[in-house]
Amino acid sequence: MEIEEFFTKFEGSSFTYNDLIFHPSYVDFGHEVIDLKTNITREIEINLPVVSSPMDTVTEDALAIAIALQGGIGFIHYNMSPQEQAKQIQKVKRFKSGFVSDLITLDPSAKIWDVVAIRNEYGFTSIPITEDGESHGKLVGMITKYDYSTLADEDLEKTVQERMTPVDNLTIARIDEISENGTIDIKQANTRLVDSHSTALPITDREGHLLYFLTRSDLEKHMSCPHATSDPSKRLLVGAAVETWFEKAEERLAAIHRDVDVVVFDTSQGFMSYEIDLVKWTKQHYPDLQIIGGNVVTPDACQALIEAGVDGIRVGMGSGSICTTQEVGGVGRGQATAVYECSKKCLQYGVPVIADGGIRKSSDIIKALCLGANAVMLGSLLASTNEAPGKTHIRDGVKVKEYRGMGSMQAMSRGSSVRYGMQSQLLRVPEGVTGMVASRGSVAEWIPFLMQGVRQGLYKLGLKSVEHIHEKLHLNQIRLERRSEEAKREGDIHGLYEVHMEAMASLSGPNTSETSIRQAIHN
Ligand code: XMP
Repeated sequence: MEIEEFFTKFEGSSFTYNDLIFHPSYVDFGHEVIDLKTNITREIEINLPVVSSPMDTVTEDALAIAIALQGGIGFIHYNMSPQEQAKQIQKVKRFKSGFVSDLITLDPSAKIWDVVAIRNEYGFTSIPITEDGESHGKLVGMITKYDYSTLADEDLEKTVQERMTPVDNLTIARIDEISENGTIDIKQANTRLVDSHSTALPITDREGHLLYFLTRSDLEKHMSCPHATSDPSKRLLVGAAVETWFEKAEERLAAIHRDVDVVVFDTSQGFMSYEIDLVKWTKQHYPDLQIIGGNVVTPDACQALIEAGVDGIRVGMGSGSICTTQEVGGVGRGQATAVYECSKKCLQYGVPVIADGGIRKSSDIIKALCLGANAVMLGSLLASTNEAPGKTHIRDGVKVKEYRGMGSMQAMSRGSSVRYGMQSQLLRVPEGVTGMVASRGSVAEWIPFLMQGVRQGLYKLGLKSVEHIHEKLHLNQIRLERRSEEAKREGDIHGLYEVHMEAMASLSGPNTSETSIRQAIHN
């Protein structure tokens, strides 16, 4: 049945992804044509349709870096001070910066332990040294890990001057030598760096003042992650969550707005005057900042947020794997219905939709996109990766990590009670639970695996891109059906005496153990 007729016929019913199945369509192109680029706000484009949830067991700087390197974007949670969040955002922005212009430098009289402190704080191992220690001062040398990493503790008192390579012995590039028509030729700069056999290439003006710093590790990261999402200065993209409580939001926005690319106002019920007023205020005070509003599940809520000025909408209430909002409050919506109804409204305004919660496998991502979402937000599927915060434990021989709802008692005691409007309540009923998820290895292995599943599904559906899906939705040319309980059983693995791990990994990822795959399938 055509999608619009389907939802009209079943008006009054709430469907989940698992209730639906889409029809294959005529295919006249190869897999290589499929392009997963998408917008998550009016202005922000990412290379894969996945974003990480701003939860304190999912997204901090390490995961935000890992997912941006793959082509998605991470949203750093707000169960931390604005200053700590700003620091984490800066770590993402500085991670792979191509030509670093926002430089960290030292002067020659600094001590080796200052160098070690910078390495520990920011992860930089090579630091340019300027005459006065200013970022764009006259270059006098460079210190690299080879100059200090094997020093004994007592030698950390030595000055940088004693250990650095002086400027006369360095390969440097003058900006006019590697520029064409006033723009740096990235290839020329990279070649100069590779030929220098050095760890970094300082770029100076004609008078020898430091302008940029190009590092070998950035170059290597860039080469191994060609689809990373980045801003025009080649820095990774990063998002952050902000409370919908004015005093807190004001302080947080002041701390983060300079570096963050996009903020999401993070509340479980975004159709409220606090959020609408906050969106208007933020647009007035930070007109260049991209804002995602939510969470919402109805078209009238989308319209209200769009009229207030949001650039993207986050859809979902109570569909997350750790959520109990629907059970506690009797409120929410089946995620497939919510995504379709909200996307229909948002498409009219050209505002992208992020389908948040309830994604358990690649087919759910495909279904969300076919229902009109531009991207999906992942919680549990990323909490299980190495880069998520928290330690890995072993339970019954399976590697697991903690995953908790932001409405769980533990998370709310760290700040997220505001997400549920409970910051000033003495008695709180949790709207989320705490649990463990089976480890899925690194983001660098898991996301490409998940995305390959998405590509394979889109291919069978005859869909080349998110834009193509939107065209088909506009023409009402996407067809689907409701699955009976028997059809769901038939579509799942059935009737086998034994299932081998390799086959089951298609649902759980390449790096999961047999026991954890079984658990994932039964979830
Ligand atoms: P998944 O299914 O990916 O869902 O694990 C992640 C999304 O769930 C939402 N979330 C919650 N919802 N109570 C809720 O009702 C909670 O405690 C809670 N914590 C997170 C959130 O939208 C997230 O992106």
